[in-house]
Amino acid sequence: MRSIGYTVESAVADVIDNSVAANASHVEVLFSSAGPFQVAVIDDGDGMSRDEAVAAMRLAATSPTTERRPEDLGRFGLGLKTASLSQCRTLTIASRKDGDLTVLRWSLDHVIASGEWSLIELDSTEASDLLGWDQFAHESTGTLVHWGDLDQLRMSAGDEQSDFDRVAVEVREHVALVFHLFNSGDTVRKIGFKLNGGPITPIDPFLSTSLKTQQTDWEPIEIDGQRVRLKAYTLPYLNKLSAVERTKALKLGGLRETQGFYVYRGGRLVIWGTWFRVAPRSEMAKLTRVRVDIPNSLDHLWALDVKKSTAAPPPLVRRRLSELAKTMMLPSQKVQEFRGRKVNQPAKVDHMWDLRLNGDEFSYEINIDHPAVQAFTADLTDEQREQFELVLRDVETTFPFVDAHNRMSGDKVPVSADADEELLKRATESWAHVRSSGFELETFIRSLAIAEPYYQVSNFERRLREALTQ
Ligand SMILES: Nc1ncnc2c1ncn2[C@@H]1O[C@H](COP(=O)(O)OP(=O)(O)O)[C@@H](O)[C@H]1O
Ligand SMILES: [Mg+2]
Repeated sequence: MRSIGYTVESAVADVIDNSVAANASHVEVLFSSAGPFQVAVIDDGDGMSRDEAVAAMRLAATSPTTERRPEDLGRFGLGLKTASLSQCRTLTIASRKDGDLTVLRWSLDHVIASGEWSLIELDSTEASDLLGWDQFAHESTGTLVHWGDLDQLRMSAGDEQSDFDRVAVEVREHVALVFHLFNSGDTVRKIGFKLNGGPITPIDPFLSTSLKTQQTDWEPIEIDGQRVRLKAYTLPYLNKLSAVERTKALKLGGLRETQGFYVYRGGRLVIWGTWFRVAPRSEMAKLTRVRVDIPNSLDHLWALDVKKSTAAPPPLVRRRLSELAKTMMLPSQKVQEFRGRKVNQPAKVDHMWDLRLNGDEFSYEINIDHPAVQAFTADLTDEQREQFELVLRDVETTFPFVDAHNRMSGDKVPVSADADEELLKRATESWAHVRSSGFELETFIRSLAIAEPYYQVSNFERRLREALTQ
């Protein structure tokens, strides 16, 4: 039972699920490495009576077939015990309800020594030195879940204080992600989460508050009279993001690994970054993250495991997902596609590079009609121009494709375009060079205005005209 395969993060999250189900509005996680390692989760939820607490400590006290309230994140009646004992040898719960306090403990050492499943009941003085007791004492109703003798946690994470601190950080990030909808109260009740006194800042995998993120409408799927719904988000191309936003986007790992469906059960993220094999992970779709909301009434169809960390969509949903996945990936492809002149619609923009396709092969060629190239070559003799074009061929054929690909699939981003002022300055200098070659000022301005990279400068024509006619 201790080896179901919880990680520390997933174990803490499973304990928090119970707090959410018990209508808590505040949940605090405590990690203490002063003295023996201890972990505690405290909530201000409904709490349990003595009978309820005894039942809660039983394995599989609730059947998976029992109907649950929509906001109940429980499933098998196992989580509290399996999650806790996957990390510790001593699990203590204290709960307060209707003025009554109950403290119960499973101690594996006591179970082994006594040879029976005997639950230990403590009074409040015996429990008062538990981590979190002071906070818990302030709640009129609520529950404290305490882990002591963290043998498994120490075995997986290490014995040093720094190891324990690292685990606390991982737990913080995990809670920040899987419960992020509760922080904003998005379709669920609002809950505040803290770790060791500090608020946990939510991690929104969709960057949904960024104006640059694209999103579709909700797409409903009816199944067994219940509703599953989907919404696809396309993250902005990384170099369109500020450094802070970029860190957020990469918080879960590389984009390629984290594309796919993000499944929320009762508002809690249970599984993410997979296409459930309805589509392959691809470089082109790496900006796509699809939120899938499922109700707990469909658990039996989704084959949710005890740890709530794997689930597989039922065939009907799979079919629909696979139809939708393709269209949902399109915006990501669009965001990333090179808008080379020769393959896209007749361009209004004069690009610097043309994409040439030849079967499976492709190449980029410098567009010699680009006004900057034209300006440079205008005064050259035929021989010089030929020479120059040979140099361009060399530049084109030595383009470091493989290196660029490797860097970009490692989520590095090419430097973004120069600032407007820089581009205007460049255009002004360029005019100083070409005016003697018989260029018309207006033609020069207008041709640059529709050419890369100048066309991106706002009010380019007017500003350049002003700069040049001063
Ligand atoms: N923090 C809590 N507040 C109130 N009740 C709790 C809490 N933790 C556990 N319980 C009770 O204990 C029961 C068993 O919890 P658990 O073992 O996690 O299984 P499940 O969540 O699948 O029901 C819950 O259904 C709930 O009634
Ligand atoms: Mg539970």
